[in-house]
Amino acid sequence: MSEVKQIFKPNREFAANARIKNMCEYQALQDWAIEDYEGFWGSYAKEKITWAEPFTNVLDESSAPFVKWFDGGKLNVSVQCVDRHLETRKNKAAIIFEGDRGDVQAITYLDLFKNVNRFANLLKEDFGVTKGDRVVIYMPMIPETAYAMLACARIGAIHSIVFGGFSAEALRDRIEDAEAKVVITADGSFRKTKPYMLKPVVDVALEGETPVEKVLVVERNNEDVAWKSGRDYSYNELIKDKSSQCEAEIMDAEDPLFLLYTSGSTGKPKGVQHNSAGYILWAQMTMEWVFDVKENDTYWCTADVGWITGHTYIVYGPLAMGATTVMFEGVITFPDAGRPWAMVENHRINQFYTAPTAIRVLHKMGEDAPAKYDLSSLKVLGTVGEPIDPPAWKWYYEEVGNSNCAIVDTYWQTETGGHVVSPLPGATPIKPGCATLPLPGIMAEILDPATGEVSEVGETGYMCITKPWPAQIRGVWGDEERYVKSYFGDVKKDDKAVYFTGDGARYDEDGYITITGRTDDVINVSGHRMGTAEVEAAIKKHANVAEVAVVGKPHELKGEGIFAYIVLKSDDGVADEVEEVKAINGIIKKEIGNIALCDDIVFAPGLPKTRSGKIMRRILRTIAKGEKITQDISTLEDPTVVAKLEEMVNG
Ligand code: WT7
Repeated sequence: MSEVKQIFKPNREFAANARIKNMCEYQALQDWAIEDYEGFWGSYAKEKITWAEPFTNVLDESSAPFVKWFDGGKLNVSVQCVDRHLETRKNKAAIIFEGDRGDVQAITYLDLFKNVNRFANLLKEDFGVTKGDRVVIYMPMIPETAYAMLACARIGAIHSIVFGGFSAEALRDRIEDAEAKVVITADGSFRKTKPYMLKPVVDVALEGETPVEKVLVVERNNEDVAWKSGRDYSYNELIKDKSSQCEAEIMDAEDPLFLLYTSGSTGKPKGVQHNSAGYILWAQMTMEWVFDVKENDTYWCTADVGWITGHTYIVYGPLAMGATTVMFEGVITFPDAGRPWAMVENHRINQFYTAPTAIRVLHKMGEDAPAKYDLSSLKVLGTVGEPIDPPAWKWYYEEVGNSNCAIVDTYWQTETGGHVVSPLPGATPIKPGCATLPLPGIMAEILDPATGEVSEVGETGYMCITKPWPAQIRGVWGDEERYVKSYFGDVKKDDKAVYFTGDGARYDEDGYITITGRTDDVINVSGHRMGTAEVEAAIKKHANVAEVAVVGKPHELKGEGIFAYIVLKSDDGVADEVEEVKAINGIIKKEIGNIALCDDIVFAPGLPKTRSGKIMRRILRTIAKGEKITQDISTLEDPTVVAKLEEMVNG
């Protein structure tokens, strides 16, 4: 089955000045990587990274899937992102911060250097943080968050950022799994001009036994917070007398840089580990290739720094290449859906990167808003997190981009560290909804899981990466086996286990890749991964819940919504449905956070199961979607339950 899609060629003027100017240049790079993989990567690593000591080996695959890149090389990621720019960019804005209430601050590379060094000295001197220690960062979108990340990198500590929307329980789990000894947080921040709080969540997360010795609190909204003496310290106080010189720890290429927890199809979230040299190299290269940011450009990614997009494309990538990166504390629809366009006009933003879910919301709430602003500075528009649907694409392209900007649909994951399949704005003819082609150096292939052969055009196969790449996940924190099983267990090519993303995909007749979505029990809510198993585990904590199954259901704005089928213990029907829903939502909020709240809850008489007791999620997904059941249900333990559920959900 092939579909004919409209093709949009790159803007010629743009292409003439782009780093990769046409498909011949793209193909030449990819051919180079195919013919001489180590030569390709070694050459870029030499050119792009400021090494303290050069590497002696490009790629060591001898213990695959545990791989080593740039062995022998020594560097410090904060030097790559800050120090090395001082010679030519000391007065250039590194970060332009716009607060929720419109306050703007430009932080030069020299300011950034000083702030990172002071922060590093604080962590070292006052908190005793040393190389290899884990530091959890639970912060709003403020410049101090970037300082904290780079300060950790400077002293060799491993940061683990927890998204500010996660609950105390979720924060506690991540702190414990990483055995963090320090938490960096803020009193809170502002949302829609009103203060909201983070520190109280940290206080709850640290109740009882905890590996955390000290908490650093950045005072942002100056609201009153509880203070535990001997544990809690004010950043604003401690930073005052810190020196702005802190020698960077010399790190091995493969020393861990950070952990970032993400959902899998089973069990608790995995601490995805990224290491130093390979990660920063690819963060920088993809910034340069995919966004094609130029020296005088201003680049804005709307993600939260608590997700991988914020790590790679707000902080590490832009700063590694010496760009100006915009950081926004607020809500993109406040005071109205013109906010991002006002920001584009105000800061003359050249590259704008956001998620399809945000585009749909902005489209819905402010269809005509882009026309009210001068968006002529825009050159490249990016999307990430899920496939972009045609109406959203069209509006983004025409109304935001004035039919003049490339749209880069970047496909990647927490585990890939940076983009892996994406158009290049000056080279790749784009098709709406299509992530197009593997980036140079990335051996991304759609494989048939049964045979390991490359999938036929139009056939949905498994999105795999068949050779290690520098920014790939290096491990699941504390669980080697889970790393191997989660990513290298499903697909073999030529008898060799290859990296499987968890996504389905298909080729079109031009070899373009369209991502069709997860093949596992992970749902994509507003561009973020949510494990159905995690949501189920939370719901099961409600005393009155006997059984639960959670599935994804298409959602107009979020992409996918969360749909829960719940069997209650009391069989005298549902005493008070409203009360039960409230209680269940309360538990989800406490265990995970608002991001995991269910869009639909159905109190089911039972769940469709096989005779061996396996819940048939496929049937539940079909019912949630409102589609007709076509699969055979005669082998179910109780086939009548299907009709009952269909009746309840779809009437
Ligand atoms: C999952 C990764 C990568 C940063 C944001 C989410 C889906 C991501 C695309 C895209 C279609 C996409 C995949 C992937 N995804 N980008 N351009 N087109 N699907 O990071 O939480 O690690 O989630 O997001 O399903 O596996 P994440």
